[in-house]
Amino acid sequence: MSNKKRIGVLVSGGGTNLQALIDAQARGELTSGEIAVVVASKPGVFALERAAKAGIEGIVVERKSFSDKASFEAKLLEELSNRQIDILILAGFMLVLSDDFVKQFPDRIINVHPALIPSFCGDGFYGLHVHERALEYGVKVTGATVHFVNEVTDGGAIILQKAVEIPEGISAEDLQQKVMKEAEHILLPKAAELLCAGKVKRDGRRVMIYE
Ligand code: GAR
Repeated sequence: MSNKKRIGVLVSGGGTNLQALIDAQARGELTSGEIAVVVASKPGVFALERAAKAGIEGIVVERKSFSDKASFEAKLLEELSNRQIDILILAGFMLVLSDDFVKQFPDRIINVHPALIPSFCGDGFYGLHVHERALEYGVKVTGATVHFVNEVTDGGAIILQKAVEIPEGISAEDLQQKVMKEAEHILLPKAAELLCAGKVKRDGRRVMIYE
């Protein structure tokens, strides 16, 4: 039997970060884990097409099909348990998971955020908004963060970060693309491999990487 960790990727949109994981797997850079399922929080998202093209099972667990968050999360947990998922990767997943859910996967859920946490993060900071806020503020450097997920939005311990310079006059849309290409799509597969290989250890807020 393979001793690869079984990865579940949670998505809500276009799935370029999912694609980065799929490509890393194809290139042999993600070898300690394999993407076993992609779960979309709504139907019709392009991320599901990316999964299908790569021959990976894609399913939909839609929040609005459930009367409350607890029953939505119970279904999500059931789908993940049925597939013996070890590690969860939030790759552009736009829902906040409850403390009870997160506790089912201690130090086994990671998220990619398109800014240098603790800047431009927390409730309301997602997707393009993050870059709009960074430009409004006038920072000269932004970037991406991969962190453990805990009960606080974008509040878990930081695993990897990468800085990206902000050129003068860039639009929020172009900055989003630049941060994805130069930071997110590099960091997320790297963090996934390190975590699956057991090379990430957390002591409180401090994370050590054993490469
Ligand atoms: C990415 O920039 C990701 O970091 C961000 O949404 C985008 C999803 O793109 N996530 C958040 O803002 C979560 N707080 P993708 O679907 O193409 O990977």
